[in-house]
Amino acid sequence: MKRVVIIGASGHGKVIADTIQKSGDQVLGFLDDDPNLDDEFCGMPVLGKVTDWKKYTNEAFVIAIGNPEIRERISHEIEGEFYTAIHPSAQISGIDVEIGQGTVVMANAVVNSGAHIGRHVIINTSAVVEHDNQINDYVHISVGTKLAGTVSVGKKSWIGIGACVSNNISICDNCMIGAGAVVVDNITEAGTYVGIPARRIK
Ligand SMILES: CC(C)(COP(=O)(O)OP(=O)(O)OC[C@H]1O[C@@H](n2cnc3c(N)ncnc32)[C@H](O)[C@@H]1OP(=O)(O)O)[C@@H](O)C(=O)NCCC(=O)NCCS
Repeated sequence: MKRVVIIGASGHGKVIADTIQKSGDQVLGFLDDDPNLDDEFCGMPVLGKVTDWKKYTNEAFVIAIGNPEIRERISHEIEGEFYTAIHPSAQISGIDVEIGQGTVVMANAVVNSGAHIGRHVIINTSAVVEHDNQINDYVHISVGTKLAGTVSVGKKSWIGIGACVSNNISICDNCMIGAGAVVVDNITEAGTYVGIPARRIK
């Protein structure tokens, strides 16, 4: 059984805590810099600030922070093992799937054959990552989002809730795809894209 320290006492952190427990591992508690936090968060101890990770180097860490820049920075600061959280109800193909350290795959998500997922990625509740997808580091695939076959998503991009990405589409680094968008063309410039079909707004 692994013992895990969660960085970020947030709603996302709570869901990761549940995923860890349902996987049969133990949540030691949370580290978070918010001075207004109590000693406990969702019934588990708040162990200190993020810099207190140094007290827990024998444990595993998982970063429960949605902002990809912060997730990346903290992942470089912490010198330790990162826990990969996979909810037992997630359907992960047994054929050529790679899931990087620190990545979280939430309840009812599907990761199909040939999908390669980087480090510190969020595959959120009921998201579908179809065959041969390439999901790079620090990406967030939101709740209920569907990526068809052979989609690639660049580093730190965030695909919003309920969005769909058609097959063989490539989305570059640092994109925000709005809630409910449908991406049918490659996206080659970082920015925010919304609507059906998805168009850049800024
Ligand atoms: C795309 C998004 C990031 C834009 O947020 P923002 O930068 O604050 O932009 P604004 O709210 O100022 O909206 C700018 C314009 O785009 C429109 N817009 C925003 N989001 C949109 C969306 N998802 N689909 C269609 N239009 C959208 C707004 O109506 C507004 O139009 P207007 O200028 O005609 O009034 C945000 O709306 C969004 O969709 N976030 C996704 C959140 C999410 O998926 N959370 C789930 C986590 S699991």
